Amino acid sequence: MSVTAVIGSQWGDEGKGKVVDFLAERMDYVARFNGGNNAGHTVINEFGTFKIHLVPSGIFAKNTVGLIGGGVVIDPQVLIEEIEMLNKAGIGVDGRLWVSPRSHLIMPYHKILDGLYEEAKGAGATGTTRRGIGPVFADKVSYNGIRWSDFAREDILTARLKMQIELKNKIINALGGRSLKFEEVFTTYRGYYEKVKPYIRELFSLVQDGLKENKNFLLEQAMGTFLDTDWGTYPFVTASTTIPSAASAGLGIPPKYITNVIGVTKAYTTRVGAGPLPTEIKDTKSEVYKKFGEVAATTGRVRRVGWLDLEIVKTAVQLSGVTKLCLTKLDVLSGLDEIQVCMGYKLNGVDMRYADVDSYGLDEVELVYRKAKGWKEDISKARSFDELPAQAKDYVKMIEESAGAPVKWIGVGPEREATIRRK
Ligand code: GDP
Ligand code: IMO
Ligand code: MG
Repeated sequence: MSVTAVIGSQWGDEGKGKVVDFLAERMDYVARFNGGNNAGHTVINEFGTFKIHLVPSGIFAKNTVGLIGGGVVIDPQVLIEEIEMLNKAGIGVDGRLWVSPRSHLIMPYHKILDGLYEEAKGAGATGTTRRGIGPVFADKVSYNGIRWSDFAREDILTARLKMQIELKNKIINALGGRSLKFEEVFTTYRGYYEKVKPYIRELFSLVQDGLKENKNFLLEQAMGTFLDTDWGTYPFVTASTTIPSAASAGLGIPPKYITNVIGVTKAYTTRVGAGPLPTEIKDTKSEVYKKFGEVAATTGRVRRVGWLDLEIVKTAVQLSGVTKLCLTKLDVLSGLDEIQVCMGYKLNGVDMRYADVDSYGLDEVELVYRKAKGWKEDISKARSFDELPAQAKDYVKMIEESAGAPVKWIGVGPEREATIRRK
């Protein structure tokens, strides 16, 4: 039996989807345990190119069962569209995708409020995905949430949803938004429930039996370590816990079983939305900015970019107990004469760890850079470590030494097979 968590060691979009897809083959279960459809995980394999928001990215492995734990918040429309899309693409998820009845639903008022809060905050906005994530988690922990299990009790659901809509309309109106009508929301969501019902199943026994029967579990984190509500760059974070311990509550796996933690690390850094990005490259005309440029999988926004920050990666390794690193997008660095890497921070000449400074302090720290030699060769066809140019090998070795965990996989392209497995 093994329980392996895949976590992003930066600000999300490290390439978790690809990694989960290629690790899923030998897994019995692949599970999401945190976040919601703010996640956008890209998978490119023999079935095509997919941007997945809720279904675990390991679903393409035919013998794997996908689980969406109670810690995940769900926009039912997005889930239904995703299931239909996967079924149409020949993936066949029926009978092997299960959604916890404990998971909370993103309601229309959550999305409206997300947008209204962002607009009210103006220049101080978080830059959320506007998927309703902050408001739905706020409702969850303030006892105002609606879960799938509520749909089996229509009288109770009716009373609770009526109350929520009344309450939320007051806030929406105060912020200049338009009221919602109970009947419309109720009818739409009952329709969603009918479609999702075949996939809803309490996961407790399934997970417990799986552990007893020595099954292999792969836990797919959404977002990244530094978007974690507690350990991220608060208030520029997301509304869920993103470190592996979240899988314990979010799926029902005792923490003692989570013994393998794979830290997915992009060979440079990206971030979407507001908040500190110490190594940010702001010159939008520079060669390196154009090279690192990406478009967000969920919102289509342009991702901010920066050099690799090893203080960040090292902190993630320590915080989450990362046992192995998967370095992604090494191919993107090809062609640079010189690569900058941030090795640590100083404030007034004194060494500082990430955890010693707050989010605003991260804009003030002095960055200690090391220059690494670049390489000219295209490495996208390399499939073994030995095929890499010496400078690329040195870059990888520097990362594992500084971060404190071995690099076991290296991504050299977006496709599943564009991966080097190190012995
Ligand atoms: P996730 O949210 O962590 O799953 O990452 P995203 O899918 O949002 O963003 C990662 C992007 O990098 C996607 O466009 C992937 O297709 C791409 N990608 C992943 N690994 C590699 C790699 O090793 N090389 C290249 N060139 N692209 C990669
Ligand atoms: P994956 O799983 C990158 C960011 C948003 C914003 C902040 C809060 O694909 O790596 P939210 O909508 O969650 O309230 O927004 O978090 N964010 C992500 N950034 N990748 C993600 O997911 C993200 N999910 C949320 O851009 O800064
Ligand atoms: Mg993403």
